[in-house]
Amino acid sequence: MADFEVGDFFADRYEILKELGRGGMGMVYLVKDHKTQKRRALKTLLPKYAANRQAVRRFAREVNAARRINHPCVVKIYDAGEVDKILYYTMEYIEGKSVRAWMRERKKNTGKAFGLGSTVRVIGMLCSALDHAHKFTIHRDLSPENVMVTRDGTVKLLDFGLAKLDSMDADLTRIGVSLGKIQYCAPEQRIDAKNVDHRADIYSLGVMFYEMLSGKLPTDGTPLTQRVPALPPEVDAFVARCMAENPEDRFGSAAQLGRALKLIFKHAMAMQEQEGRAGVPAKPIAPPAQATPPEFSPLPGPQSAAAPIHPKALSKRPRRPWRGFWTKLFQPSPKL
Ligand SMILES: Nc1ncnc2c1ncn2[C@@H]1O[C@H](COP(=O)(O)OP(=O)(O)OP(=O)(O)O)[C@@H](O)[C@H]1O
Ligand SMILES: [Mg+2]
Repeated sequence: MADFEVGDFFADRYEILKELGRGGMGMVYLVKDHKTQKRRALKTLLPKYAANRQAVRRFAREVNAARRINHPCVVKIYDAGEVDKILYYTMEYIEGKSVRAWMRERKKNTGKAFGLGSTVRVIGMLCSALDHAHKFTIHRDLSPENVMVTRDGTVKLLDFGLAKLDSMDADLTRIGVSLGKIQYCAPEQRIDAKNVDHRADIYSLGVMFYEMLSGKLPTDGTPLTQRVPALPPEVDAFVARCMAENPEDRFGSAAQLGRALKLIFKHAMAMQEQEGRAGVPAKPIAPPAQATPPEFSPLPGPQSAAAPIHPKALSKRPRRPWRGFWTKLFQPSPKL
């Protein structure tokens, strides 16, 4: 078995420091790499994967594709191989928590799901990561478990392409192991997981967006604004477009999705500003950074008044895209 104790050595190189977690495919440990003297996360896959030669070849291909991804929001992969019939790879160690853990914590502490600002920040970074990564591979297993947030607020996407190992062979199917994940899978991926394109990831992003804002999965078709009436009405069309049954009807790329997201956020901020102006200004004027509610503070706010968004704008590149938007997204989040 691929279960190690603290102090064990793996591949004559990695000293097990602690167990980080257990997933559907294997174990994750914090290790010290005695070759580089660096701390890494080691993921060992269950022995059944090494026993299947097709899975081993696929694993090598997927790891090689994932290694070519070079983006601050995608976890870096270092070493990979097979030792004692265990497939493994090492990656950058992320000091933070998964979006799933973050959602649970927030629910416990405040009884609420995420606000629009935090959600746009996370999904926006994922769009930027996917826009780059889709040149090399498809994730296929986007879920709050596979997205981590570091202490400085950077989002890190894990497990690129690994879900493909499960889709090859009936013996390796993970549906029985992690039923929950099926909720994030596009309809075409549920039927034939091998033959999907990047739009399967677009679908999963739509599910995550809905869940982060409402705390619920979009299984029964309830519009998002019905669950969270304070949200701008455009979010319903946005979710519907991400989660369209036919991939042709979804956003064509992660970049396009990201642009629609920016417009929604920009509009929500403008609405908020307008409402603020219409109300009684009882409080003294604070500097703009503090004046923005904490939920929105990591993001820049638009200066103009709210105007209704034309539906076509959701699919078009805005004429004046925000300069430096993504750069600002990478600034530390005071909420974490
Ligand atoms: N690079 C990493 N740095 C720090 N912790 C990590 C890292 N990779 C994974 N983990 C931790 O290990 C846990 C288990 O990860 P793993 O990918 O095995 O399971 P999962 O994401 O829950 O399910 P799946 O098998 O579908 O990926 C994660 O929840 C996370 O807390
Ligand atoms: Mg994972």
